[in-house]
Amino acid sequence: MTISSAALAGLLDVDTVAKDFPILSRTVRGGNRLVYLDSGATSQKPYQVLDAERAFYTRCNAAVHRGAHLLAEEATDAYEGARLTIANLLGAVPRELVFTKNATEAINLVSYAFSNATAKSAHGRALPHGAERFILAPGDEIVVTQMEHHANLVPWQEVCDKTGAVLRWLTVDDQGRLDLDHPEHGLDAVVSDRTRVVALTHQSNVLGTITPVQRIADAAHAVGAIVVLDSCQSVPHMPVDVTDLGVDFVAFSGHKMLGPSGIGVLWGSYELLESMPPFLSGGSMIETVHIDSSTFAAPPQRFEAGVPMAAQAIGLGAAVDYLTALRSLDGTNQGMAAVAAHEHALTSYALNRLSEIEGVRVIGPTDTHERGSAVSFVVDGIHAHDVGQVLDESGVEVRVGHHCAWPLHRRFGVAATTRATFYIYNGPSDVDALADAIVGAQKFFKVI
Ligand code: ALA
Repeated sequence: MTISSAALAGLLDVDTVAKDFPILSRTVRGGNRLVYLDSGATSQKPYQVLDAERAFYTRCNAAVHRGAHLLAEEATDAYEGARLTIANLLGAVPRELVFTKNATEAINLVSYAFSNATAKSAHGRALPHGAERFILAPGDEIVVTQMEHHANLVPWQEVCDKTGAVLRWLTVDDQGRLDLDHPEHGLDAVVSDRTRVVALTHQSNVLGTITPVQRIADAAHAVGAIVVLDSCQSVPHMPVDVTDLGVDFVAFSGHKMLGPSGIGVLWGSYELLESMPPFLSGGSMIETVHIDSSTFAAPPQRFEAGVPMAAQAIGLGAAVDYLTALRSLDGTNQGMAAVAAHEHALTSYALNRLSEIEGVRVIGPTDTHERGSAVSFVVDGIHAHDVGQVLDESGVEVRVGHHCAWPLHRRFGVAATTRATFYIYNGPSDVDALADAIVGAQKFFKVI
């Protein structure tokens, strides 16, 4: 099968894009071309990002927000410039963006606001104005979904253990969509006047499903709950405007969107950020310090204790510049719209190619409606780890296992899946390599 001209219309100029990524020119496993299909775990980095980090260290390396010398001034300007660039991508204002180590830390920052506010209030300690929204009572409820990555599940389990709150969840149907009308585990059944938090993914890292955020956020807000969105698999792949989403917090990682490791972002409405107690404490996040007590800086500094990861933030700013400048081959889309169109075309092609291979079952939507580019599948008669190993022998690098979404895998009755994820440097030939390697694995294990 060849890719249709309609699908081709959305593609980026992959050959040109790939030249910006030095790692993609290397060979693997006996001289094979590297077919990198694991960007859902971490993306590769273009020269533009590597150069921006190097330029920071070679030109203006200094501890930001400290020191009055020229280097400190330039480093601070570059760090805050990156915050502005990333805020612009999200339709946000810079003071609403907190830099964290990664999305996991960003979600923990919010979850700790609940357990810290609850603990401080129990001891009659000072809290910011408005912090009562973060104080939980035993029996209050936190709602997640069955498709959450552990990073948006375990922190909420921890909050429940510390506060006596109760965890509830929305269920997933056989197609891998949230079953919001389920009589026992749907929206009406699960969200109640006890709900204080609804934490959900924007796009499943396993199924590729894009969730109906607006409907869920409306139901959550109707009962006064705070909505936390794990956007690790959406911000790198599609246009995301935080003002359109209607949620209260958005968390994502830089390393999945061409940026360096060690930088993540929490966006929050400023009113909520202001009413939250700090997460990590120490230097830079304070207003005044006495020997027996302290008061805290306004956000975002309140949540950026210690010397921040300036080079990584600047690298992420460069990644955003890179993504925003991309154009579709046919010139119809630019920036994140071009990224989304490219992945849509590739995912459509991949789903078609996999559907032609007998014995391969996709776990997740088999059409591209409200779906991103994570394609997970099982191959009859072969364990996912064995599939991954044979694919790797031919240079096709995928992720295998439960992808930090163990409850979701239990829901589908599988211990592990093989997952291919596509990004801007992948083209139809990578999909072909994947399909050929799967058939190769089936032959190797004699299941066809
Ligand atoms: N969260 C990353 C993934 O889905 C690591 O692979």
